[in-house]
Amino acid sequence: MTTPEAAAASTGAAGYAIRNLTADDLAAYRALRDHSFGFPDDAETDAAFRQRMASTIGAFDGAGRLVASAAGHRFETFVAGLPRRLLGIGAVQTEVSARRRGVARRLMLRLLERARDEGTGWSMLYPFDPRFYERLGWQALPAGVRLRLPIAALGPPSTTDAVALEGPLGAALAPLYRRCAALWNFTNARTTGPWDCWDDLQPAAGDRGAAFDLGDAYAVLQLRSEGHDSTTLVVHDALWCSAAGHAALLRLLRAYHGQAERVVVDVPRDSDLAWSWTDAHAVPTHGTRMVRVVDVAAALRGLPFPDSAAPVTLRVVDGTAPWNDGTWRVAADGEGCSVTPAPGPADVQADVRALPLLVGGGATPGALRHAGLAEGDDAALGALHALGGGRSPFHALSDRF
Ligand SMILES: CC(C)(COP(=O)(O)OP(=O)(O)OC[C@H]1O[C@@H](n2cnc3c(N)ncnc32)[C@H](O)[C@@H]1OP(=O)(O)O)[C@@H](O)C(=O)NCCC(=O)NCCS
Repeated sequence: MTTPEAAAASTGAAGYAIRNLTADDLAAYRALRDHSFGFPDDAETDAAFRQRMASTIGAFDGAGRLVASAAGHRFETFVAGLPRRLLGIGAVQTEVSARRRGVARRLMLRLLERARDEGTGWSMLYPFDPRFYERLGWQALPAGVRLRLPIAALGPPSTTDAVALEGPLGAALAPLYRRCAALWNFTNARTTGPWDCWDDLQPAAGDRGAAFDLGDAYAVLQLRSEGHDSTTLVVHDALWCSAAGHAALLRLLRAYHGQAERVVVDVPRDSDLAWSWTDAHAVPTHGTRMVRVVDVAAALRGLPFPDSAAPVTLRVVDGTAPWNDGTWRVAADGEGCSVTPAPGPADVQADVRALPLLVGGGATPGALRHAGLAEGDDAALGALHALGGGRSPFHALSDRF
């Protein structure tokens, strides 16, 4: 005889129906969310949640009760300098009584299927625990590093010609931002998405904030008091697109000698300040981000592949998204590369988790080999590594969704 407990426990994910949420689901979503993440109890919460319904899917039990949900937002990201569609996944939650039955896994698969059907190649999320998403094919890769430095670490006091910008930041800085962000992989292109981070970065009057266009760099800064006689210069957002831009940014920060004792700045892991100071001055940001291939062909198609390079046959192992699991021929195609199914022996075998690291520039082929995520021919692995355009990954904290 089956006890009610055993019957309930055996209810698999198949017993739940999945559909888009609508404004009618708002109260149920609020209740689900209360237990998973909480939310600010203010008048703006329902408006923000209502806006989110269009991009959120939910799982409903046999009685039509919402038991789990996940949001899939549409962004654009840069890979090898090219804007690519990105599925941004957030607010994944399952109520306690429905956990460990595969409901979240089904929601993630549904989001991936939809994104694939829309021609999206990549997805990104921020994990509560990377191991949960690794099992579903996502991979953590370097986002950036937050440094908390004595201002003297940047060099001696300096002059700067920079004058603080006035007016809306997005209008002033978006084209410059894109020139800078295109030089890194998996940066947010800030062209589309449910949130405009420039609104959040806009300095408030009287708050000691300022933003600067430095020609080949930009910075959004704020002075913050810590104790009655100590001031920190917080760089909320900054990037550069040339050595001259980087030098101009350092000159700007060094102009604050005397007013600030410390600087807090987020920089790409693969950059000058990070090389010098990460080991001694990095502070945690809770900023792990993970990237996954949604669709191998859409992810890699069009990325730079030299005409002179031999085609690569790539065996992808993907236990979650079966449409990726198979062998692919990556070959020069005039502009960038083509990606087509190719049965037969492969030059490279890679876990799907290896691809963001390999293509994004977050790890060398050797490191992936040692992690057991990829194996095969050196030249072929090198050609796949080069698809990222020789760039390293970066993801600004201000772009967290
Ligand atoms: C994390 C959470 C969404 C998982 O939901 P769920 O419906 O229980 O997940 P699933 O049953 O689909 O789990 C998928 C796999 O991960 C495993 N898993 C579940 N919870 C896990 C956890 N906390 N840590 C590690 N692995 C976990 C499951 O055992 C399952 O593995 P299996 O398929 O081999 O059996 C749920 O625990 C939750 O809502 N937590 C609170 C909110 C939260 O932290 N959300 C994540 C935000 S990034």
